[in-house]
Amino acid sequence: MNNFSVSLFLLFSLLLTHGIVELQASTNQPYRTGFHFQPIKNWMNDPNGPMIYKGIYHLFYQYNPYAAVWGNITWAHSTSTDLVNWTPHDIAIAASQPFDSHGCWSGSATILPGGRPAIFYTGIIDSKNTQVQNLAVPKNYSDPYLREWFKYPKNPLIVSTKPIDPTLFRDPTTAWLGPDKRWRMLIGSIIDNKGLAILYKSSKDFKHWTKENHPLHSDNNTRMWECPDFYPVSTIGQKGVDTSTFGPKVKHVLKASLGGPPRDCYTIGTYSIGKDKFIPDMEESLGVVPGLRYDYGKFYASKTFFDSDKNRRILWGWVSESSSADDDKKKGWSGLQAIPRSLWLDKSGKQLVQWPVVELESLRVNSVQLPSKFVEAGSVLEVSGLTAAQADIEISFEMTDFEKADVLDSNSTNPQLLCSQKGASVKSAFGPFGLLVLASKDLQEYTAVFFRIFKGQEHKYVVLMCSDQSRSSLNDKNDKTSYGAFLNVDPVHEKLSLRSLIDHSIVESFGGGGKACITARVYPTLAIEKDAHLYAFNNGTEKVKISSLSAWSMKKAQIN
Ligand SMILES: *[C@@H]1O[C@H](CO)[C@@H](O)[C@H](O)[C@H]1NC(C)=O
Ligand SMILES: *[C@@H]1O[C@H](CO)[C@@H](O)[C@H](O)[C@H]1NC(C)=O
Ligand SMILES: *[C@@H]1O[C@H](CO)[C@@H](O)[C@H](O)[C@H]1NC(C)=O
Ligand SMILES: *[C@@H]1O[C@H](CO)[C@@H](O)[C@H](O)[C@H]1NC(C)=O
Ligand SMILES: *[C@@H]1O[C@H](CO)[C@@H](O)[C@H](O)[C@H]1NC(C)=O
Repeated sequence: MNNFSVSLFLLFSLLLTHGIVELQASTNQPYRTGFHFQPIKNWMNDPNGPMIYKGIYHLFYQYNPYAAVWGNITWAHSTSTDLVNWTPHDIAIAASQPFDSHGCWSGSATILPGGRPAIFYTGIIDSKNTQVQNLAVPKNYSDPYLREWFKYPKNPLIVSTKPIDPTLFRDPTTAWLGPDKRWRMLIGSIIDNKGLAILYKSSKDFKHWTKENHPLHSDNNTRMWECPDFYPVSTIGQKGVDTSTFGPKVKHVLKASLGGPPRDCYTIGTYSIGKDKFIPDMEESLGVVPGLRYDYGKFYASKTFFDSDKNRRILWGWVSESSSADDDKKKGWSGLQAIPRSLWLDKSGKQLVQWPVVELESLRVNSVQLPSKFVEAGSVLEVSGLTAAQADIEISFEMTDFEKADVLDSNSTNPQLLCSQKGASVKSAFGPFGLLVLASKDLQEYTAVFFRIFKGQEHKYVVLMCSDQSRSSLNDKNDKTSYGAFLNVDPVHEKLSLRSLIDHSIVESFGGGGKACITARVYPTLAIEKDAHLYAFNNGTEKVKISSLSAWSMKKAQIN
């Protein structure tokens, strides 16, 4: 027996004896991914310093080399030529100096003139969590893998000043260069319940930094702004632009990672380089619900970079576990990275659109196509002939007779709440319809990713997209929160599409071609490996038409 069948055999015997999968670090790993980035073992959180250098993509990430829980944080490092297959390298930046003795926390890379990369990261200098900002540069610019980094001896280059709390002063952004030849960079913080992006400006040499009197932007009633990100997006088309691009053909995006519950919120607006101020198009606070989020599920501490080889902006985000810390210790690891996503401004100018990088499609095999077909009310349709635990599926729906749609309460403004009240078993006229992924044969376990269509205000229709984890696992120690988003698609005139990337313990879903994204972590106990199934379903009272369905098994990527 090869290792695979040994573990399957073990699995079955465990299932028979206990009913629930017993996790063991080496023998049984049903939740490790086939194509989502993760280290071989231990704890991973934020993506750090993503960039492309001499045709090689670099991903650094927050990593504990010793355990599957947070602690002893370093910058681990992997590289790739296609953003899909990754080669690990030695840890790039670890605590070694007085200016980072207690940890090397998140930061970003900037490509300086001459194509020379530089990294700013947050150093922790004492047991009180005092935070300072440090510079590191490659030891050998001829090495495309940038394996060794040199910490500038005059670090720290930036320390907090009053009234900033030195324990709430972290996560420097990629810097951008103004017409005055001075660099600008943001650092996340909070003052009096007001999250803010503190603005620093440097001399030409990137080494002497001074704080501006005003933040680039701040918002009442938001929490600490972790991992701020600030970048331009083109107002025409899907191409990305360099971070130091200004002018009439771009809008700017400001993102902050907010706590309680963790979410990455962004706002679109105008950057006045003269005043060094960001003016959002919408007056609402960054923390407003539902607001604009990259992802309405699990997705945090994200960071973009400009891919100058392919002229696109790429987003990385950390997807944490929804399992207990005990289970994380048993399986010996914690944390995934979402599939890197291309990101651009929607035609409306009011939101971003995200889509998995096209290179991911190189892993697709065994294409399964379904001719267009009606799904009657209350029916379930199996999509077979693929590895349902490791798959990519695109489906789109059409409906008619919208008059029958249920009316949405005018006070139902929180999509996540709506999705938790109306799970996959609550019927309306149109919806729930969508996919049951990582499903067991008898539907004892499944994760339901679906839509509902309501009549809203002024003869408009409202599309709700949900990811319902309530039946995802027989193990009740997992967090099974339902997630939801309103999807800015007009179902009368447009097809309603859904793409889901299914990878053992993660389901990343893209509604409306990437206008709303929801990522969930699930830990089925029955629907694992060959026992996982994939279904399309319609639990509404009206029939809906599947206008197209394509699905693929996904090959395993090299992920360390
Ligand atoms: C941090 O590393 C030390 C060894 O250097 C180890 O004793 C300790 O348990 C580690 N802590 C965590 C949370 O991993
Ligand atoms: C720098 O990297 C290049 C390319 O990997 C290598 O040939 C060279 O020996 C390295 N130089 C030093 C000083 O390590
Ligand atoms: C934010 O708070 C300040 C007082 O702390 C107040 O003057 C200002 O109007 C508030 N802004 C908003 C948008 O609520
Ligand atoms: C509004 O919300 C309340 C509870 O928060 C609910 O009872 C009511 O049915 C909702 N709809 C309308 C139209 O008031
Ligand atoms: C469909 O709805 C019925 C009853 O409302 C429920 O028992 C069933 O579990 C639902 N199907 C799915 C896939 O949730």
